[in-house]
This record gives sequence, structure tokens and C-alpha cells, in this order.
Amino acid sequence: MARCCGLLTIFICVLLMLSLCQANLSSYVDDGYGHEDGSFESDSLLKLNNDDVLTLKSSGETTSASSTVSVASFGAKGDGKTDDTQAFEKAWKKACSTNGVTNFLVPKGKSYLLTSTQFKGPCKSLRNFQILGSLSASTKRSDYKDKYHWLILEDVNNLSIDGGSTGVINGNGKIWWQNSCKIDKSKPCTTAPTALTLYNLRNLNMKNLRVRDAQQIQVSIENCNNVDVNNVVVSAPGDSPNTDGIHITNTKNIRVSKSDIGTGDDCISIEDGTQNLQISDLTCGPGHGISIGSLGDDNSKAYVSGIYVDGAKFSESDNGVRIKTYQGGSGTAKNIKFQNIQMKNVKNPIIIDQNYCDKDKCEDQESAVQVKNVVYKNISGTSATDVAITFNCSEKYPCQGIVLENVNIKGGNASCKNANVKNQGTVSPKCS
Ligand SMILES: *[C@@H]1O[C@H](CO)[C@@H](O)[C@H](O)[C@H]1NC(C)=O
Ligand SMILES: *[C@@H]1O[C@H](CO)[C@@H](O)[C@H](O)[C@H]1NC(C)=O
Ligand SMILES: *[C@@H]1O[C@H](CO)[C@@H](O)[C@H](O)[C@H]1NC(C)=O
Ligand SMILES: *[C@@H]1O[C@H](CO)[C@@H](O)[C@H](O)[C@H]1NC(C)=O
Ligand SMILES: *[C@@H]1O[C@H](CO)[C@@H](O)[C@H](O)[C@H]1NC(C)=O
Repeated sequence: MARCCGLLTIFICVLLMLSLCQANLSSYVDDGYGHEDGSFESDSLLKLNNDDVLTLKSSGETTSASSTVSVASFGAKGDGKTDDTQAFEKAWKKACSTNGVTNFLVPKGKSYLLTSTQFKGPCKSLRNFQILGSLSASTKRSDYKDKYHWLILEDVNNLSIDGGSTGVINGNGKIWWQNSCKIDKSKPCTTAPTALTLYNLRNLNMKNLRVRDAQQIQVSIENCNNVDVNNVVVSAPGDSPNTDGIHITNTKNIRVSKSDIGTGDDCISIEDGTQNLQISDLTCGPGHGISIGSLGDDNSKAYVSGIYVDGAKFSESDNGVRIKTYQGGSGTAKNIKFQNIQMKNVKNPIIIDQNYCDKDKCEDQESAVQVKNVVYKNISGTSATDVAITFNCSEKYPCQGIVLENVNIKGGNASCKNANVKNQGTVSPKCS
């Protein structure tokens, strides 16, 4: 048979084989590091699904020409005991300054002990920050030359942070929680580092990663534009102080999807300067729910708009969907929609509090951050307290354009003050 193959036939055969190879390759190494260890199929704390694989495929940027800079090549031990901070900094410098699509790799199966570490751009063409192993925080408080940040990534564009379903960022926060004034009243109130700060990044894609036991805030997204967070698991004990799951401020165009957050403070906190945020397929609890605010503290101006939560489950959390503002602030929180949400035994399933105060005493003040156009649609479940819906709005700046549409929360009443509320479909409880 082979003998009768003409030159043309051989050519076609080769082409065919090449294209078959290509098809297999593109579904295999498209993200630049391959899955020879099968991490995507097995041992998945984080379950991946077709969407993720498709996203990886279509990104297509990190194929053949990519190079990988591994922290292992710069002396990082990954034994969980040796301080690997310097090795990481050297590797980062290399990865950041390399021409051509580059991946920064934290290998799988190792635990790298780090003190405060800065990953700073701008970079030549670093595209992938692959955290396949664990980053483990030093528990020595004196190790933190930056007392506000443990890991900070800043000034890098078009980056993907990919945990490949095995990557973990572990803040080992217990020592900080024990010394928090919220836990031990005899201790002075001081700040603790945020585990992962993402600062001034454009076009960021963070996925398939686990973040746990932060010293304080787990992930803080600040001054960014166009951020995708997908398939991220954030966890800490329900009584760990101030461990907000994902904190967002001064950031536009963010999508948080398929994520699971259980922590000691807000699952997602949305602060001043957040615009166009979409949250979908979120599981929250324990924790303080999704919280817009606190806005307007110390008489500040705050602007939040375009918040869209579609698909969330809250279980045993302190709040479900909350908006909170201090008296004395100004600005607006507007165009907000919460829909397709389930509440299971949540203390304040739906709450707007414009008299929020977490200090000993807050002065009565007239001005307020204006809350308007807030829609609650298809929300059901149970309240753990006898008030399921609270609208405690400002006298001078009442809440405007509040819509409850097909809301059914059992076990509690509605307490409504200074709120302009419209009911649509079946609503229970109703504001009287
Ligand atoms: C592509 O992968 C499939 C299944 O993994 C295998 O059966 C096939 O031989 C591969 N084709 C090529 C050209 O490598
Ligand atoms: C980042 O991606 C955008 C959109 O794909 C592209 O226009 C831009 O040039 C990229 N920036 C860098 C620094 O590569
Ligand atoms: C209401 O939300 C639930 C999720 O809580 C969803 O399963 C259901 O399909 C939604 N109903 C409608 C009519 O969209
Ligand atoms: C509104 O908030 C204020 C301040 O926290 C509180 O004193 C008041 O009881 C609340 N009113 C309602 C109706 O919840
Ligand atoms: C709701 O309000 C009604 C009327 O004031 C009261 O009888 C009932 O006990 C309240 N229910 C709860 C769960 O607090």
C-alpha cells in the first residue's frame, strides 16, 4: 500500500497527521504548562467545567512561543520552612523582564514560605502567574516589612493568575486573629495584612485558585479595570475577624463567577468607586453576605453603581444582600439588582441600613449617601431572625426606586423606614 502512495498523497497524509496533532496539542498545552500531572482531572478541590476549559482554549496566547520561569530555578526550596521570599523576587524579576510570552510558575506539590512579597510591573510580556503549589504566609509578625500587605501584585496588564485547581494561598492567619482587638479586648486595635492585594491591574483573569485563612482581608481588588474572577474558593473560620473574602474598591468592569466563599466577614465587600460588577453563581456562608459599603464614613463621598448579582446562595450567614452607609456621607449607590437568590437561615436576608455605625457612638447627621434603583427579584428562603427585610433609610435622603419582585422569605417580618418601595408579583413579607 505504502509503495503506491504518490508524493501528493504523502503530503496530504502528513498534513492530516499534523492537524490531528494540532488538535490534541491545542486542547492540552494551551495554557502554557500542560496538565501532565492530571491536576485538572483528579484531586480537584475546585471542580473545573467545560466553560473553564473553553476559556483556556480561546485565550490561545500562551502556546508554542511561551517560556516559563519557575521559582524552583531561582533557589526556592518549597519545604514550608525556608523563607523563599528572595528566590521569588529574583524569579519575578526575570519573568517580568523577559521578552516573549512568559509564565511565572510556582510548582505543584510544594509549599513556599513567604514574608511580605511584592510582584510589581510593568512587565515585558508576562501573561501567566501559575500558582500550582502553596504560598504559605510567615507567622512572624516582625517579618512583615509592609504591615498592610502580604502578597501584592501591581501594575501588570493582561495577566492570568491560574491556580490550576491545586494552587493555594494560605495566610496562616490564626496568630493575627488571636491578637485582634475584636477577639481579645485587652489588645490594641491594629491592622493586619491583606493576604492578596491586586492593585492597578488591567485585564486580569484569576481562576481555579484557593485562598484561605488570611491575616485580615483575603483578596483585595483595588484600582483595577476589567477583572474576571472564576472558580475561586475562599475560606476561613466564621469567627475570624475582618477576613472579608473579596474586597473591591475603585474598580470597574468585574465579573465574579462560580465561586465559593465562607469566611469571618463579608463574602464580597463592595466599596467606593466600584462600577459595573457582576456576580453570578456565588455560594456564601459563613460570613456577612454581599455587602455594598460601608459607604460615607467620616463624611466622605462615595459612588457605587451597576451592581448585578444573579444567582447566589447564602447559608447561615449574618446577612444576605446588604447596603450600608454612615450618616454624614454623600454620593450615591445606585442601579443595583439582586436576583435569583436563595437564603437559608440568614439573619438579615435583605437589608439597607443608612444609619450604620460600628463605633461606640455616631453623631446624628442629615446628609447621606443616596440609595436608589435597587431591585430584589426572585429571592426566597428563610430568615434566622424575626426581621427578614430591613429598609432603615435616611429621613432627608429616603431610599428611592426600591422594587421587590417575587420575594418570599419565611420566618420574619419587614421593617421599613423612609423607603419608597414597590411590590411586584408575590411579595412576602411586605413593608406595611
Ligand atoms: C489524539 O488524542 C486521542 C485521545 O487522547 C488519541 O487517541 C489520538 O491518537 C491522538 N491523536 C494524535 C494525532 O496524537
Ligand atoms: C493587552 O490586551 C489588550 C486587549 O487584548 C491589547 O490591546 C493590549 O495591547 C495588551 N497589552 C499589552 C501590554 O500587551
Ligand atoms: C429563581 O431563582 C432560583 C434560584 O434561587 C432559580 O432556580 C429559579 O429558576 C428562579 N426562577 C425564575 C422564574 O427565574
Ligand atoms: C434604624 O437604625 C437606627 C440606628 O441604628 C436604630 O436606632 C433604629 O431602631 C432603626 N430603625 C429600624 C426601623 O430598624
Ligand atoms: C410579624 O408581625 C406580626 C404583626 O405585628 C406579629 O404578630 C408576628 O409575631 C411577627 N412575626 C415575627 C416572626 O416576628
